[in-house]
Amino acid sequence: MNADQILSFDPETRRKLWNQLMESIEDYLERVPEANPSPVSDLENLRTMLAEQDFNQQINPEHAMDFVIRNLWENQVHTPHPRYFGLFNPATTSMGIAADALAAAFNPQLATINHSPFAVEVERHLVHTFGQRFGYKSEEVDGTFTNAGAEANHTALITALTHQFPDFARKGLRGLERQPVLYLSNQSHHSLVKAARLCGLGSDAIHWIPVNDRLQLEVNVLERQIAQDRADGFAPFLVVATAGTTNAGVVDPIASVAEIASRERLWLHVDAAWGGAVVFIPELSDLIKGIEQADSITFDAHKWLSVPMAAGMYLTRHPQVLSQAFRITAEYMPTAAEGEGFIDPYTHSIQWSRRFIGLKVFLSLLVAGWEGYRQVIQHQVELGDLMREKLAEAMWEVVNPTPLPVVCFTNPNLSQVEEEKTLEGILREVLDSGKAWISITRLDKNRPVLRACITNYRTKAEDIQILVEELNNARERLKKR
Ligand SMILES: Cc1ncc(COP(=O)(O)O)c(C=O)c1O
Repeated sequence: MNADQILSFDPETRRKLWNQLMESIEDYLERVPEANPSPVSDLENLRTMLAEQDFNQQINPEHAMDFVIRNLWENQVHTPHPRYFGLFNPATTSMGIAADALAAAFNPQLATINHSPFAVEVERHLVHTFGQRFGYKSEEVDGTFTNAGAEANHTALITALTHQFPDFARKGLRGLERQPVLYLSNQSHHSLVKAARLCGLGSDAIHWIPVNDRLQLEVNVLERQIAQDRADGFAPFLVVATAGTTNAGVVDPIASVAEIASRERLWLHVDAAWGGAVVFIPELSDLIKGIEQADSITFDAHKWLSVPMAAGMYLTRHPQVLSQAFRITAEYMPTAAEGEGFIDPYTHSIQWSRRFIGLKVFLSLLVAGWEGYRQVIQHQVELGDLMREKLAEAMWEVVNPTPLPVVCFTNPNLSQVEEEKTLEGILREVLDSGKAWISITRLDKNRPVLRACITNYRTKAEDIQILVEELNNARERLKKR
């Protein structure tokens, strides 16, 4: 067999493979609503079965595909299930699925504009379009697609350090006179802690700000902490506000944080990985007012825009800062782009070689349009209201104050010890029912709560009804034990 036959096959075998692929994708999408959203995996068995795959025999493509498809069906939480009330992992758009296949086949290399002018310019167009949606001026917007939100947050820390400390890019942290510190609320995403470690700041450089009883960053404490830190000889440089916390879907008071950041000359980063999507809903966009003052923004299209993982975006209103942080020249790379404003992505981001991340956003948006997304997101927001209503009717206590569709709730009037045990029991019952997936999280002061997020555009009112009935039944069953 020649190399082509080994890796790419003859046209007839390929056609069969593509048919099998398309059939199995369509079969999954049609049948997954009837499946158990969280089948239980036997991890020991899984490992043993995989150990048998020692790659010493060649398997035909059809059998190899069957093996993987069967195991994906049986061994994953089905995030595309309409009753996966989960962790910002949506069902994916059909255009997004098609886009990922195209990106794999055409395999454009997005390191340089020379290799992939269409792909690079599509991403640039999207970055500008999204930046402007968030309120940046067109001449200011810059940004980059990232692997995901964690990388966008990491990029935010690097650019904040680069901008605030002109010596940072050359001398690193050791060249700075004072220890830089940054401010996160205790509800911020933990990828920012990793980012602090990755930048060499260490997690002690994070000064944690408590939240108020609405679970929002406490701005008075922030102000006092900055003053104290300056008096103690630290160099405050960054504050992060979250638009849609992971735990509770709460939006920090961005405009107030922006005012403090501006007065104190701190870089303001808004982590809008999930909640940034409210920018598409005129009735809700005021929730994130002030985001246009952010020096940088994280937005994940693989969350509320429902494109396949992973499609993060880092946006900024400082058009020079990415180049200051990442510019590099390499002799073997094709000559840098000629002309004003044409940029080689490898000089502009953490990644070097990378896939065409923006295509799934571009194709999804081309077909759905802003209006399509507005309708979808609005519908999910309304289902969140419905869930709060149904839970209240059934005497559950909703504890997170947000109009967004993340609902944290508990069984009222229980002591902390009882609450812990009861919620664990209810969670187990719901998961064992095979009807829905929800989770437990801990809010401020470590209080455990059940959490359900409408993350799937296929979720309907009857799915909410089924979940609430399941919760009520689980509570009754536990009372009788
Ligand atoms: C608010 C927030 N920021 C950042 C992230 C990290 O995003 P990713 O998982 O895409 O890396 C998440 C993940 O859920 C998140 O909720």
